[in-house]
Amino acid sequence: MSVQQQSGEHGSVASRPREQWSGQWGFILSAIGSAVGLGNIWRFPGVAYENGGGAFLIPYLIALVTAGIPILFLDYAIGHRFRGSSPTAFRRLGGKAGKWLESLGWFQVWICIIIAVYYAAVVAWAASYFTFSFDLRWGDDTAGFFFGEFLQTSDPGFSSQFVPAVLIPLVLVWVAVLAVLGSGIAKGVQRANVIFLPLLVVAFLILVVRALFLDGAMTGLDALFTPDFSALSDPSVWIAAYSQIFFSLSIAFGIMITYSSYRNRKANVTAPALVVAFANSSFEIIAGIGVFATLGFFAFQQGVGVNELEGITGVSLSFVTFPAIVSQMPGGPFFGILFFGSLVMAGFTSLLSVLQVVSSAFQDKFGITARQASIRVGVALATVSVLLFSTTTGVITLDTVDQWANNIGIVGAAIASTILVIWVFRKGPELAAHLNSVSTFKVGRLWQLLVGVLAPAVLLYMLIQRIIVLVTEGYEGYPLWYLAIAGWGTIAVILIGAITMTALRWKHDPDDFTPWPSAQALKELSK
Ligand code: ALA
Repeated sequence: MSVQQQSGEHGSVASRPREQWSGQWGFILSAIGSAVGLGNIWRFPGVAYENGGGAFLIPYLIALVTAGIPILFLDYAIGHRFRGSSPTAFRRLGGKAGKWLESLGWFQVWICIIIAVYYAAVVAWAASYFTFSFDLRWGDDTAGFFFGEFLQTSDPGFSSQFVPAVLIPLVLVWVAVLAVLGSGIAKGVQRANVIFLPLLVVAFLILVVRALFLDGAMTGLDALFTPDFSALSDPSVWIAAYSQIFFSLSIAFGIMITYSSYRNRKANVTAPALVVAFANSSFEIIAGIGVFATLGFFAFQQGVGVNELEGITGVSLSFVTFPAIVSQMPGGPFFGILFFGSLVMAGFTSLLSVLQVVSSAFQDKFGITARQASIRVGVALATVSVLLFSTTTGVITLDTVDQWANNIGIVGAAIASTILVIWVFRKGPELAAHLNSVSTFKVGRLWQLLVGVLAPAVLLYMLIQRIIVLVTEGYEGYPLWYLAIAGWGTIAVILIGAITMTALRWKHDPDDFTPWPSAQALKELSK
């Protein structure tokens, strides 16, 4: 068989066959490892609390069923049918007339580049806090320690003053993640997930069970689960639910397309997707229980209500409030080690998946190996990450870039992919037939309606609302010039990056490819 035929057969754009997961479970564990990340542990509990507590579970579950799972199916179907990184898969989906669709893939890759450079910094902070847990290094003033002594935070801007305590762990995180990535899918990414995911589940369950036995734990759970149904009439609660689901499930920014492109051709696609979605949401809700039981204890210690506590969302929840609680708890260091250890493991496996999107895209386009991608592209990203996020302005830049990348970047990519795939290229029936030809859980017209109508409509509304707020109110009171560069500049970088990468030449012809089952076979099957 010629190399040409081989490339079509294996879906590889290089002269070697495309790598594969070693089996169904290797893939499932890795996909769960990607989904379960910082979004579950530090984001979900606070978002749920701020948006109606127990009542938030209603929009959350509706978002999961109407957009999360359908778009997860869509990502898996695109990656599995067109067997490539995001740019390759979208280019092949577009066909002869739609080669430009590759740019949508690069748009997703650039979102991942942006997310990776700051996500690595949070993993590095968590790794430092893991070591600080042993002697409760943060002392009594945990906010002063985090923002002052540890991060040495200065005013918004772009400082060139490096903070060695952040720089060193950040470099170590990059070395570790690039070493795993360079070892390829089965020997690198999958192996890391097979080790870290079970460890994470055990560590986190011990933590949650311990938390449930703390004094005041039940008041914490009451605060989380007592529903405020009036929140359901507030559109921003629904927006929060949909954006939580997207980030948390790792959908619409290339990860699940990339991961499913490494599955074998006859693999069941939809059933594992349901397992991944269920596992991710279960972890998220368990994280909420653990975090709020712990906050209940903290409130009890201070003789106040949970609603009077400050700093129970985002960065402050993990790096200010949690350390303060750990200091007050019997056996605190052990609790701190479990919490920050979990954060590192969850963050590391998600970071791997974000970077795999980038690595896979560069491998496909330039015909390089995983190792070469790790060295050439990875080192460049590590350098940018260190320059931006290990300086005294790192935390503010991180907060701003995260806001724009998530709420404008990912949501924009989700709208573009659903509308282009379903309406412009009319691939809904082909992708549904593809899913049904290999999967046990079948999809039908409802799936196409959710992906093609409901999801883009809700997402478009969300995007417009968000843009209005960011334009009229700014963000966190940061100066406008700063938001123009760190916020809107992030979106400009993603767009320019996508256009530039699309314009570059391919090393091997990506269009030399025949999907399997063929379009004809799918038609027969759907009769
Ligand atoms: N899905 C990953 C997270 O939740 C990116 O952090």
